[in-house]
Amino acid sequence: MNSWITSVLPAAPARVLDAGCGAGTLAAQLIAGGYDVTAIDLDPSAALAAGVPAVRADLAGFEAAPFEAIVMRMSLHHMEPMEMALNAAARLLAPGGSLVVDDFAWERADPAAATWFYDAGAVIGGRDLVADPANEWEREHGDLATGEEMLAAISARFDVKTLRRVPFLHRYLKCEGERAERLRTIEELRHPLIGLRVLAVSRGTDGT
Ligand SMILES: C[S@@+](CC[C@H](N)C(=O)[O-])C[C@H]1O[C@@H](n2cnc3c(N)ncnc32)[C@H](O)[C@@H]1O
Repeated sequence: MNSWITSVLPAAPARVLDAGCGAGTLAAQLIAGGYDVTAIDLDPSAALAAGVPAVRADLAGFEAAPFEAIVMRMSLHHMEPMEMALNAAARLLAPGGSLVVDDFAWERADPAAATWFYDAGAVIGGRDLVADPANEWEREHGDLATGEEMLAAISARFDVKTLRRVPFLHRYLKCEGERAERLRTIEELRHPLIGLRVLAVSRGTDGT
């Protein structure tokens, strides 16, 4: 279970929307933890295949009874238009409800961080060495919302309670255990902190 997300969520059995649930791993963990979870995604097939009762929906047009919390793990930067998605989140949250965003500010990765990331991926994941890491990073992420854009759009609609910048690239490398912990430590010591963890609270309006 992601310890930061659960540390900021209201206690189970709170009603939680996992918006952009992907393969449903977080939703499954929250369900196992006793939460009343609604999981949505533009393409819920991977979550459904994993046994998570996810719903095919675009957050921007989603209608449901109010939620005590909405979680967006690595999904907000994909949502277009982001403003519509966050308006919907403001509308779907109960007054005082929590918006929990666990994402990353890709624009804060400098060339040294991009080089470290792709080199580590070549060793750990057996991928080809990337010739121009800075350009490759920009090519892979340049179409996504930046961290600053996400923060501005969240702040316009919610009261930001906490903002944490944390290591992120080691998570992207998808390895586990002691090796992941070492990568996290190296990343924290040597590179910009691009991970973005935002806890924000509903203002009790529809956010528009
Ligand atoms: C990188 S995946 C993250 C999946 C999951 N939250 C996780 O942490 O593993 C981003 C997901 O957001 C979904 N998504 C993008 N825009 C969306 C939208 N407007 N409404 C619902 N889901 C959306 C995509 O289909 C994709 O499955």
